[in-house]
Amino acid sequence: MSPLASGPQGPTTLRPLLTTVLDALTAGAATRDGPLPAGGPTEVAARLREALGDPLPDHGDEDALRTLVQALAAGAADPADPLCTAHLHCPPLAVATAADLAASVLNPSLDSWDQAPAASELEALVTRALAAEVYGETDQARSAGDALVTTGGTESNQLALLLAREHHGHTQLVCAENAHHSLRRATWLLGLPEPVTVPAPAGTMDPAALGEALTALQGPRGSLLVAATAGTTDAGLIDPLPDIAALCEAHGARLHIDAAYGGGLLFSARHRSKLDGLARAHTVTLDLHKLGWQPIAAGLLAVRDRHDLAPLGHHADYLNADDDTEAGLPDLLGRSLRTTRRPDILKIAVTLKTLGRTGLGALVDRVCERAAEFAELIDRHPRFELHDRPTISTVLFRPTDATDDTVAAVRRTLLTEGRAVLGRARLDDRLWLKATLLNPHTGADDLAALLKLVEGHTPR
Ligand SMILES: Cc1ncc(COP(=O)(O)O)c(C=O)c1O
Repeated sequence: MSPLASGPQGPTTLRPLLTTVLDALTAGAATRDGPLPAGGPTEVAARLREALGDPLPDHGDEDALRTLVQALAAGAADPADPLCTAHLHCPPLAVATAADLAASVLNPSLDSWDQAPAASELEALVTRALAAEVYGETDQARSAGDALVTTGGTESNQLALLLAREHHGHTQLVCAENAHHSLRRATWLLGLPEPVTVPAPAGTMDPAALGEALTALQGPRGSLLVAATAGTTDAGLIDPLPDIAALCEAHGARLHIDAAYGGGLLFSARHRSKLDGLARAHTVTLDLHKLGWQPIAAGLLAVRDRHDLAPLGHHADYLNADDDTEAGLPDLLGRSLRTTRRPDILKIAVTLKTLGRTGLGALVDRVCERAAEFAELIDRHPRFELHDRPTISTVLFRPTDATDDTVAAVRRTLLTEGRAVLGRARLDDRLWLKATLLNPHTGADDLAALLKLVEGHTPR
């Protein structure tokens, strides 16, 4: 019979399997010559199909762990490679990943105390600490903040809209054209009207246009929800949060800030002030699998007033019977829309405690510094055009005088060859290459190499 990961024999059983996994990761990565496998989708799929064979054979194959881990590593886009910079897809910290293994072994489920006695307390403590990081220590007159653990920015944004709808009934979302697509999708999911879109002429929400929209839409007090962004997906820009917060307060609108990317700046003494105004939001999306170096998933939704979470309260007798709750068993079901839920808080807690604010801040400072250097390099280069100096760690650039088709083709060629992973973003009606720098170990030489590679692939 297959041995188990937990229980008294668990660690002994796991130890040799971990050696197998680590060896297979090393062997798989060694077959790649860059951040992702060469050959494009057809060749990569063929190699994977070959490694997998029959996905559900009649009789098992003891070598499956090695074979499949090695195949996945061989075919991975490795965010720890300095030339893998397309997305808000961070290289996870080793210590967080080790903690995630413990989470899998212990397998607590956060939907009832009797499945997660210590994990539920850890989640309560760490989420409150993170809410305090966003909102500061709350005054006596107000209920303190809290935060829910989510699967990422998409779920956090959805929950923010759901809480607004439950608070106000009919809710009209107002967001800028730079807002993340998950907000629009959430309005669809929740049966809310289409969002009203405010222009973002310089890549950030135009406060004058927001003021006009709020005046024009003025309905029953509080039925408007403004969603601002701290760290746009395309350019890493931060909306003018204090101006937006003041407008929301003047018009009685609720404010949500999607800080899925920029939220990590909270840990940096040098960059934290870029988030001034964040604490004036009713809800804030954070996402530590972006600028927080966590393995996926590590999303959070912070709320300024924990009473705001009341609409999520839910009863299922087998999980939170009234008499159990009255007898002191914590009621966890209202902390998510999910039922069974992984203890993603463990890796987050281990990271926060291992690195401290200073350690995390240093990582943030480092990637921001690298992005500034990369922008400088591009700006000085005669064959490249820089979109703008980075606000966080995203740099947009394009070969001088190239057409959009050329920009798109250069990116795809680098992907197909497996040489570099760059993103793409359309701004000012032109297509740009996007480097989202999230790897604190990337050096100046790596960035010079990336630029040289792009130059080499751009037709003269
Ligand atoms: C600003 C912003 N919000 C939300 C999200 C969605 O986050 P996730 O992919 O973790 O659901 C992203 C993803 O890149 C994002 O950039």
